[in-house]
Amino acid sequence: MFKSIIRQNNQFKFGLRSLATAAGENAPRIKKFQIYRWNPDTPDIQPKMQTFEVDLNKCGPMVLDALLKIKNEQDPTLSFRRSCREGICGSCAMNIGGYNTLACLCRIDTNTAKNSKIYPLPHMYVVKDLVPDLTLFFQQYKSIQPYLQRDTKPADGRENLQSIEDRAKLDGLYECILCACCSAGCPSYWWNQQQYLGPAVLLQAYRWLIDSRDEYTKDRKLMLQNSMSLYRCHTIMNCTKTCPKFLNPGRAIAEIKKMLAFD
Ligand code: SF4
Ligand code: SF4
Ligand code: FES
Repeated sequence: MFKSIIRQNNQFKFGLRSLATAAGENAPRIKKFQIYRWNPDTPDIQPKMQTFEVDLNKCGPMVLDALLKIKNEQDPTLSFRRSCREGICGSCAMNIGGYNTLACLCRIDTNTAKNSKIYPLPHMYVVKDLVPDLTLFFQQYKSIQPYLQRDTKPADGRENLQSIEDRAKLDGLYECILCACCSAGCPSYWWNQQQYLGPAVLLQAYRWLIDSRDEYTKDRKLMLQNSMSLYRCHTIMNCTKTCPKFLNPGRAIAEIKKMLAFD
């Protein structure tokens, strides 16, 4: 009898506790997102910041989750790029809280007292809202001929083989997803982007310069041997600091400079 009273009492306490927890969980945690808006269809209207409120209890943990929730539930005209939602496609690059990063890999700052500010990648033309114009960026990528070039046939007539050591040299380079976070964070690229290739494209240029299977190293070096394409890098290292894939474009550029200096 006595034991059963204690058990009932405990059940009652436990019930109260879970009710209290549920009530706590249900209390909305409203986070404000201030988002850059600009519509090319109304060019006379200046760009502006628009504030949206999202209950973090009903939203996934990443900034991309909040953007999708806003688009789905509040404003379907909000424009941004995304595809993979796991840091692979590179399309959701934007400036979040002052850093160029991928919205799908960036956790929402859960401090609801602080607003989250989201802009498109800086110093790029804007197509709409958070969508930057990457036309020049990809033209520059194309200009470095980012593919294997050789005149001789593979030794076995089938495959261009590579030693394990030579393949390892490409680690830290092949993982680049061309999100452009680094180039959009580079002051030299901001001021000279018509001529300076920028960190992302130069990291790719280095990736092909050191590929043991490529036979066009000399031509690749010649392409960079001018005052603007490469040498506008002043080793400020913003690029390396901002890369969401933790790559080091600043080091790749320094390695190209070494290759050209000791040629
Ligand atoms: S180096 Fe990093 S920041 Fe730059 S394009 Fe590649 S993945 Fe993006
Ligand atoms: S290290 Fe070079 S490429 Fe990187 S941010 Fe600085 S100037 Fe730009
Ligand atoms: S959605 Fe593909 S990298 Fe973010």
